[in-house]
Amino acid sequence: MKAIILLLSVLTSSEATVTWRDCVPSSTAHPYVTFTSVSISPDLVVLPGNVTIGVQGTVHHHFGKDVRMVVHMDKYLLGVWSKVPCHSNVGSCNYDNPCEFLSAFATSGTCPHQLEAHGLPCTCPFNPSDINLPPSVFEVTKINAAWNWLATGKFRVQAEMIHGNDIVGCFHVEMDIKVIGGGFIFG
Ligand SMILES: *[C@@H]1O[C@H](CO)[C@@H](O)[C@H](O)[C@H]1NC(C)=O
Repeated sequence: MKAIILLLSVLTSSEATVTWRDCVPSSTAHPYVTFTSVSISPDLVVLPGNVTIGVQGTVHHHFGKDVRMVVHMDKYLLGVWSKVPCHSNVGSCNYDNPCEFLSAFATSGTCPHQLEAHGLPCTCPFNPSDINLPPSVFEVTKINAAWNWLATGKFRVQAEMIHGNDIVGCFHVEMDIKVIGGGFIFG
């Protein structure tokens, strides 16, 4: 009996953690982007809230509209990973022209200041360069309607950059998210 209770408490009190990996397949001879170090804290990301993100990597190859992006997003529900479908461009979506999203920054003429402060571009095209973002605070103040499926739980996201038939950049992250405030702020 004691053993069962102990086992149950171990299973239910697992610590929140953030894990990531670069998932460019080894069959890709010339990746466009690789990541060597990524940090996300706190381990339990609380939204709305402040998230500290650090990234180190390399852009190896010029790219722009020639890449598309495929995002796989799953939520851990009742012991299984369940796909979060694509809704209003959020979730497991295919983006034929991800540069389009970044063009909002070009229109307003401003990158997020955390990127700008470290000389990192935020619009297409991207040129070969080092990516070096020291741990920087990003404030998530509002969650808009497209994110209203988001709830407390464990998520995994894999974002693949694709050129032709090759995955030329790939980032995989698994994290625990806690949504506070009992609801959503529609923005
Ligand atoms: C983020 O941190 C700043 C500075 O500590 C604080 O004023 C702000 O309220 C925080 N934002 C959220 C959404 O918690």
